[in-house]
Amino acid sequence: VKIFRDCASFLEFTKSQTETIGFVPTMGALHEGHISLMTRAKQENKILIVSIFVNPTQFLPNEDLSKYPRREEADIKICELAGIDALFLPNIDEMYNQDDPKVCAPNIRGFILEGFQRPGHYDGVLTIVLKLLMLTNATNAYFGQKDAQQLILIEEMVRRFYLPVKIVPCPTARDDDGLALSSRNIYLSAEQKIEALKLSKSLFCGAKLIANGLRNCKHIKEQMLKELLPLSVDYLEITDYELNIKDELVLSNTLLLVAARVGSVRLIDNLWI
Ligand code: PAF
Repeated sequence: VKIFRDCASFLEFTKSQTETIGFVPTMGALHEGHISLMTRAKQENKILIVSIFVNPTQFLPNEDLSKYPRREEADIKICELAGIDALFLPNIDEMYNQDDPKVCAPNIRGFILEGFQRPGHYDGVLTIVLKLLMLTNATNAYFGQKDAQQLILIEEMVRRFYLPVKIVPCPTARDDDGLALSSRNIYLSAEQKIEALKLSKSLFCGAKLIANGLRNCKHIKEQMLKELLPLSVDYLEITDYELNIKDELVLSNTLLLVAARVGSVRLIDNLWI
């Protein structure tokens, strides 16, 4: 694996490629979910690039930036095993200058759900993703559906800024018991992991009600909420694929989204129906 830590040499490498480039941006602490993105990207592209950068601008001041898991050595091993060609591992000064321009998330879709709970979060995400997409010169970039709102906002940025890259959504990887994989799961104790299953159980309950023919979102949410108790729920919402909140849902255009706290650990999950 070629490892790049500075933008100039990385850019020289990416711009000299003549084959398709698949790109998987990450914040490290790589797990099976990331590996599934890499596997898919490897199948669909000649060159596979991964970035690991814990992006400070997408963390709010009270969030877990300082304790976010950093496991560079293990992550490099995982990237080697996944057969990637290049790994981009920049530090903060490489990625940001003082008084940089930045991308603002859309006013409506960027400021509901996660955007409402974490104001400014998506400005940070879109800014770094734009930089990374331009730096990697990616043909295809792979994002997990686990971060549904992030994925939708990135797709919209790519569309509206006419960026020359295809965004490829990838299904959420789950443990056998249903828990959506996340780097933040390592904050959970054994008992909290069991509590955390309430998120996916609630989503699966919603999916079952829909499979049984229920379409009224209020009724579905009431049932889903029962599965989440007694967790502290930040939001439980039913939207279409463009994040419009719905009263009556439509099949093949429905997202069930949940964010809840297990102790002090904030978890999100969703299902695309
Ligand atoms: O999903 C993530 O890990 C991050 O938000 C991303 C896309 C790498 C941007 O920092």
